[in-house]
Amino acid sequence: MHAITAGPSEAGARPTFAKRAFYVLKAWLQAPMDVATLCPSSPYLTRKLANRDCVKNARCVIELGPGAGGTTQALLEYMRPDAKLLAVEKSTVFSEPLHAIHDPRLEVAMDDACALAEIAAKHEFGLVDAVVSGIPFSSMPSAVAKTIAQSIHQVLRPGGVFVAYQIRDHVNEFARPLFGPAETEAIPMNFPPLTLYTWTKVCVAQQDAADRRGQNEIVHDQWHKSQRVAEVQGLSHP
Ligand SMILES: C[S@@+](CC[C@H](N)C(=O)[O-])C[C@H]1O[C@@H](n2cnc3c(N)ncnc32)[C@H](O)[C@@H]1O
Repeated sequence: MHAITAGPSEAGARPTFAKRAFYVLKAWLQAPMDVATLCPSSPYLTRKLANRDCVKNARCVIELGPGAGGTTQALLEYMRPDAKLLAVEKSTVFSEPLHAIHDPRLEVAMDDACALAEIAAKHEFGLVDAVVSGIPFSSMPSAVAKTIAQSIHQVLRPGGVFVAYQIRDHVNEFARPLFGPAETEAIPMNFPPLTLYTWTKVCVAQQDAADRRGQNEIVHDQWHKSQRVAEVQGLSHP
């Protein structure tokens, strides 16, 4: 499928990096564990997040932790003109810069990603094509991280993609049991350097096929074991 992108002009004027850094510092002083960085994402990272098929072809995307909106603007630049983006941000410090992004495709929810399923339903987002997240899974309580990971899995359509950019790899602990192994990519050109994780939600048909393959392997293994036992018994009791 060819992506029809809106282009930078339709995504609105981008606030300067310095201005976004000011908001990040202000939010960090209020809630350092939630913000987890003193620096907004680099243009290199925002492009890496947005310039990918799961964003360019999507009809519905949810962004968790948009902060001052640098990542949000990049997503909008690459998204289709008929797509929509729901940005969910917990810190009220970021309300001003997020609401300053004038793009009809964007809806902003100043809310906690813990209630993601309810937030998505309230905004009539249903099942989405992609969730892009910068919220720091490493600095939140395990129960909260688990709830958010489960909600992300719940709001994604089968075949939908979960993208997370993280300084540490705790996200893997919560996402892997739901999505399986991640594709990872190191992002050195960001401060701090981090890792990009990508998971795809398995379709039910694929899961059934994998389960059947697994069951066939078990039956096959059991047959081999019983053959070996029969051979051994045959040797010891001629
Ligand atoms: C590392 S910053 C990313 C900011 C921005 N996307 C960027 O790349 O510059 C993490 C963001 O996640 C937000 N956040 C943390 N926990 C959250 C939660 N439970 N729900 C929604 N947002 C959250 C923080 O307030 C912060 O804006």
